[in-house]
Amino acid sequence: EIKACLFDLDGVIVDTAKYHYIAWKELADGLGFLFTEQDNERLKGVSRTASLNILLEIGGLTIDEEEKAKLAEQKNNRYVEYIAKMDSSEILPGALDFLKECRENGIKVALGSASKNAMTILNNTGLTPYFDAIIDGTHTSAAKPDPEVFLLGAKALGADPKHCVVFEDAEAGIEAASRAGMFSVGIGSPETLNAANIVVPSLAHMSVSQLKKSFA
Ligand code: G6P
Ligand code: MG
Repeated sequence: EIKACLFDLDGVIVDTAKYHYIAWKELADGLGFLFTEQDNERLKGVSRTASLNILLEIGGLTIDEEEKAKLAEQKNNRYVEYIAKMDSSEILPGALDFLKECRENGIKVALGSASKNAMTILNNTGLTPYFDAIIDGTHTSAAKPDPEVFLLGAKALGADPKHCVVFEDAEAGIEAASRAGMFSVGIGSPETLNAANIVVPSLAHMSVSQLKKSFA
C-alpha cells in the first residue's frame, strides 16, 4: 500500500537541472576544461560541495579548501541568478497534476531535495502549498546516495519506508531510495536509471492508478 510519495525537485518537479548544468559548465569553462552533459549526470542529485569535487576530478585539478569554497559560491551565485527569474511556467509537464492527484487519493506528499535553494524555487513557482513536508539541503547532513533525506521525509509524514515511493531523475537519488527501503520511480531514460524499480520519461506519464499497479 502506498502512503507517501517523496519527490526530488531538480529535474523531477522543475526544470532546474539545466541551470545547474549551465552554471557548472561556466565554472569549468573558466577553469579551462571541458564539461559535458554526460559528465553532468554524475552531479545530478549530489550536494554542491560533492558536485564541485567531482567537477574538479573531471578537470584533473587539485585545489585547496578555501579556493573550493570560493568556486562553490561562484557557481551558486550564477545559479541563484537563473532561479530568481523562475515562475510556474518552469514546472515540468504533469508534475503539478500528479502532486494534486496524490493528495486526492489520500497519499501524503514530501519534497526530498539536496538543494539549499529549494524554498526559493518552490516559492517562485507557487508549489510550496502542495507539499505536506519539505526536506531540503538545509535539513540534511549526508548527501544522496545516503538515504537520510528520504528517511527524514518519511518520518515527517509519519509513513513507514516500505509504504513510500521516491521520484528521482538522478542515479544517486535512486540509490538513496533503495537504501531507504523505498520503491523508486526513475524520471528520465532507462539506460541511466536502470537501478530504479520503474522508469518513465516524465510525470506526465504517471498516474496514481498506474503507480499502484507497479507497486503491487
Ligand atoms: C540537487 C541537484 C544537484 C545540486 C544539489 C544541490 O540535488 O540535482 O545538481 O548540486 O541539488 O543544490 P544547491 O542548490 O544547494 O547547490
Ligand atoms: Mg534531481
